[in-house]
Amino acid sequence: MSLLKAYFALLFLLCVNVFAKKDVNGDFYVGRNQMIYRTEELSQEKFLAYSPLSNGTHLREAVKNILVPRVVGSAGHTMVRDYIASDLRDLNWNVEIDKFHETVPILGKLHFHNIIARLNPDAERYLVLACHYDSKYFEEFEFLGATDSAVPCAMLLNMAHVLQEALEPFRNSKLSLMFIFFDGEEAFKEWGPNDSIYGARHLAKRWEDDGTINRLDMLVLLDLIGAADPTFYNFFPNTEAWYSRLISLEERLSNADMLDHYISNGISRQYPNRYFQPNTMRSSFVEDDHIPFLKRNVPILHLITLPFPSVWHTKDDNESIIDYLATENIARILRLFIMEYLLSSQHSE
Ligand SMILES: *[C@@H]1O[C@H](CO)[C@@H](O)[C@H](O)[C@H]1NC(C)=O
Ligand SMILES: *[C@@H]1O[C@H](CO)[C@@H](O)[C@H](O)[C@H]1NC(C)=O
Ligand SMILES: *[C@@H]1O[C@H](CO)[C@@H](O)[C@H](O)[C@H]1NC(C)=O
Ligand SMILES: [Zn+2]
Repeated sequence: MSLLKAYFALLFLLCVNVFAKKDVNGDFYVGRNQMIYRTEELSQEKFLAYSPLSNGTHLREAVKNILVPRVVGSAGHTMVRDYIASDLRDLNWNVEIDKFHETVPILGKLHFHNIIARLNPDAERYLVLACHYDSKYFEEFEFLGATDSAVPCAMLLNMAHVLQEALEPFRNSKLSLMFIFFDGEEAFKEWGPNDSIYGARHLAKRWEDDGTINRLDMLVLLDLIGAADPTFYNFFPNTEAWYSRLISLEERLSNADMLDHYISNGISRQYPNRYFQPNTMRSSFVEDDHIPFLKRNVPILHLITLPFPSVWHTKDDNESIIDYLATENIARILRLFIMEYLLSSQHSE
């Protein structure tokens, strides 16, 4: 994402709109194509069934497999792409590779490959989770990009593994789950409209042309996750009801003592030290892979750590920065969110 926009975001952090922390269970909201949705809290039975699910061993294994230099066109890039695709194919997901080529600054003509994985390839609608799997090219040093975005990609693979059984009913449902691993998010020379988010721009255009874009309920983009003490914000009024579910799930998991080492200054986390902040930054956003979809009216949740991790775009964004407890906590909240979304939205017309 762009540095300039990030500075603006930080500036606006000081003058955000705080929306009242209300109980939004049962909130109605208008989605794409004026469809009416209703958020609905997971039943206690399902909450208790899904909350303990996790596999930290698998998460670390996935990070290890992705955390190599993976600049577009490099051997590491091909390796990571093959790993992501085969990991999901092994779980019986439908995996499509969206290939295209473009000439970029410095490196010239490159072949890009977005990875699109669908739990049910024939679904009418999708909840989409996304991250980017390319790493940024730096001339002076080898960049690993743990938070940017090896960890977010590993979190998606881990989610598919951990929720394998819970997701079974959504293999042949009208509403299903899709993952997108975008290629070419990073700029090669300097962030700008023509040098950044290559994969996202290509895919949004292609899906606008063939109508697929109308089948995306919402795009949840994960970025810059993996360091300690992340905080997230909502950016878009039309997804506030869903963002509020993340806040409520963090609270619910905290109350149930289901978050690992969920303490700050010796006590269980309270605001402002929680992960999902109850603020909307209406007048600011960070440029990222969601932009081409946002421009085409796809509802967006942009789950990016703000302020950015201190190691952002430095050689220190490596394995040593990863806080697995925090990452696992975020992953746990997201897993419940996915289940809540799929269960409560499957009948929405
Ligand atoms: C957790 O993941 C590891 C590594 O992928 C796997 O060997 C193990 O069977 C998994 N554990 C459970 C309980 O699924
Ligand atoms: C981006 O590319 C378009 C089309 O080639 C061009 O018209 C535009 O000026 C470029 N924008 C920038 C900022 O380079
Ligand atoms: C990883 O980052 C740490 C600091 O976060 C740094 O001390 C170390 O040199 C880095 N390792 C590599 C291999 O660059
Ligand atoms: Zn980056």
